[in-house]
Amino acid sequence: MSVIPSAGNGKVTVPSILERKSVVSTGNSSPAKITCLTAYDYPTARLLDEAGVDILLVGDSLGMVVLGYESTLPVTLEEMLHHTRAVRRGTRRALLVADMPYGSYHVEPKEAVRHAIRFVKEAGTEAIKIEGGERRMDLIARLVDAEIPVMGHIGLTPQSVNALGGFRVQGKTEEAADQLLRDARSVEAAGAFAIVLESIPRELAARITSELRIPTIGIGAGPDCDGQILVIHDLLGLSFGHKPKFARQYAQLGEIISHAAAEYCRDVQHGTYPADDESYHLNVEQPAAQTAPRR
Ligand code: KIV
Repeated sequence: MSVIPSAGNGKVTVPSILERKSVVSTGNSSPAKITCLTAYDYPTARLLDEAGVDILLVGDSLGMVVLGYESTLPVTLEEMLHHTRAVRRGTRRALLVADMPYGSYHVEPKEAVRHAIRFVKEAGTEAIKIEGGERRMDLIARLVDAEIPVMGHIGLTPQSVNALGGFRVQGKTEEAADQLLRDARSVEAAGAFAIVLESIPRELAARITSELRIPTIGIGAGPDCDGQILVIHDLLGLSFGHKPKFARQYAQLGEIISHAAAEYCRDVQHGTYPADDESYHLNVEQPAAQTAPRR
């Protein structure tokens, strides 16, 4: 199921992502920024992979943008595995990362490792992402010990929406910023290969980026991170409701889909779809029974 990474074939791997860290002291001051997008299905994964996106994340944002839940909390392990398999089938070059959903790593560490192993064995992920900082140190170390590369995620962590009291920018006070710095250092110390910084002030993201040796991937964290990630539905204009200010829309697919569906309905109702040249015809030399399409 998975694409075996071999040096020189352009495949993005965990070590090649680590090499993209921008570190002035090593002379690697301006490598190309790391590009990440979410994907939840086969055709989107294929298109993004072929477009050259470095990391495809099967985010648990799946719950909100694809499954219509109000938060990411209801997303199940089986739903994540199902969509990750589809994305795996469409991904060749990009590094494939999947989110561990809420509840799949919050009880017993052994159970969490077992769940993570399912992502690797059954869905072909090359890494997993978990939310949380200092308090996830032990779990990150156990996962890395089980040969599973981990991407951390701090700042606005949507699985903590109830504890945070909503989807709000994090790290705005000195105390909160200090905690996020400790979280970032802990995630790195535990062995993560990259860390997502979500909805935090640009200045704080820049400080974390300059302190860590692993790449930072920002979403609503300003331009100084080592890479950026967006939810693909936001980028394509396919999401509903509140649009965060960082979610730049590169296309308006929602409008295109609505227009296409309305035009189709009009054509069917007016009898202009299907036309004669979009219809099959009887071959006069063959009996009708033989020409009927088989279902
Ligand atoms: O679930 C998700 O899509 C994410 C990204 C936005 C980082 O966690």
